[in-house]
Amino acid sequence: MKIESKIKNYYVEMLDNVLDKPNQIFLDLKYDKLFFFIDEKVYNIYKKRIDVFKKDNNFILINAIEHNKEFNNLSNYYNVLIENNFTRKDILVTIGGGILQDISGFIASTLYRGIKWIFIPTTLLSQADSCIGSKTSINFEDGKNLIGSFYPPDKIFIDVNFCSTLTYEYFNSGLGEIIKFHILSDQKRYKILKEYLSSNDLKSGSSFKNIIMSTLEIKKSYFESDEFDSGRRNLLNYGHCFGHALESASDFKISHGEAVIVGMGFANLLSLKRGIITKEKYLEFEEIFKKHYPKFDFSEINVDDIVYYLKRDKKRDGKKLTMILAEDIGKHYKYNDIKEEEVKQVYAEFTKFYLK
Ligand SMILES: NC(=O)c1ccc[n+]([C@@H]2O[C@H](COP(=O)([O-])OP(=O)(O)OC[C@H]3O[C@@H](n4cnc5c(N)ncnc54)[C@H](O)[C@@H]3O)[C@@H](O)[C@H]2O)c1
Repeated sequence: MKIESKIKNYYVEMLDNVLDKPNQIFLDLKYDKLFFFIDEKVYNIYKKRIDVFKKDNNFILINAIEHNKEFNNLSNYYNVLIENNFTRKDILVTIGGGILQDISGFIASTLYRGIKWIFIPTTLLSQADSCIGSKTSINFEDGKNLIGSFYPPDKIFIDVNFCSTLTYEYFNSGLGEIIKFHILSDQKRYKILKEYLSSNDLKSGSSFKNIIMSTLEIKKSYFESDEFDSGRRNLLNYGHCFGHALESASDFKISHGEAVIVGMGFANLLSLKRGIITKEKYLEFEEIFKKHYPKFDFSEINVDDIVYYLKRDKKRDGKKLTMILAEDIGKHYKYNDIKEEEVKQVYAEFTKFYLK
């Protein structure tokens, strides 16, 4: 897949057993040396193959926790590259999920005002969603993703086999975004989603690769016309306004995509209360979401914390709260008039009846 970007055009390729194919990746590239940022857990699982793939000692391991993509920690990553005499003729290679992607992307966009960067995503969320779209996001104090830039990798290689070692929680997290994109799309894509979700083995077979490609195609259609997120791309935040607040309020005990599933359920209930979605449609979507809500004790969450984080949402316009509400497949609208009281009332009902 070729992605047209105002920053630089880039490419996504599906490549099975990517770690055994360094020649296929690096042979046609011009560079002096490579440096690797590698997810620590991924390294421990795939150590032998990664060592052969990267050859030398030109790497660091990064623990994929939100704390490590905080602004205050960035100097560590710049330092290691500068100390290793990294120049603009070299390539940064990232092996990991969305956290490693955000760290690497921000560093790649700012070090020497932009360096070459290859990304090998290893989580379902990073393969089906975050790897394209050029966004890099860094946490600042207690605000998630408050600092960032637009900077895509030069090339992305997706090896779906990495997903076989993901925990239930992180596989489900990727499914959250896959579900969101297909609901935002059209009836044809929605049918593809429903067929995929009803298959016996979600992690293998051609339907797995197809659903990842389908998700990337939908995302591409949203951002190629609005790369810098000023219009239609905003709708991709369906499930995210509440989802981000929930991630923060739970101190990141809930994964990103799982928080998005809860966020879509919440947005839909609010849409039902406002008469935007019919009861029938509401129940149809709830049937999908409820199979993927995270196993989490929601009594741990204080709704005042949710409101606090909703107020800090960087997408907020105006004085009231912002949320993407749903009417049907592909019919989603941004509302800037959500009241605190409304959030509290819907939250009480949502946690009582739906998130049991
Ligand atoms: N920049 C963007 O466009 C964008 C979009 C969506 C999300 N994000 C960010 O991405 C982050 C979430 O990323 P994520 O969900 O991809 O996961 P992650 O990077 O947080 O990793 C999740 C967990 O899975 C482990 N892991 C990674 N690959 C593995 C594998 N193949 N086998 C076993 N374990 C593996 C990691 O070590 C970690 O423990 C959040 O910080 C979110 O804000 C960024």
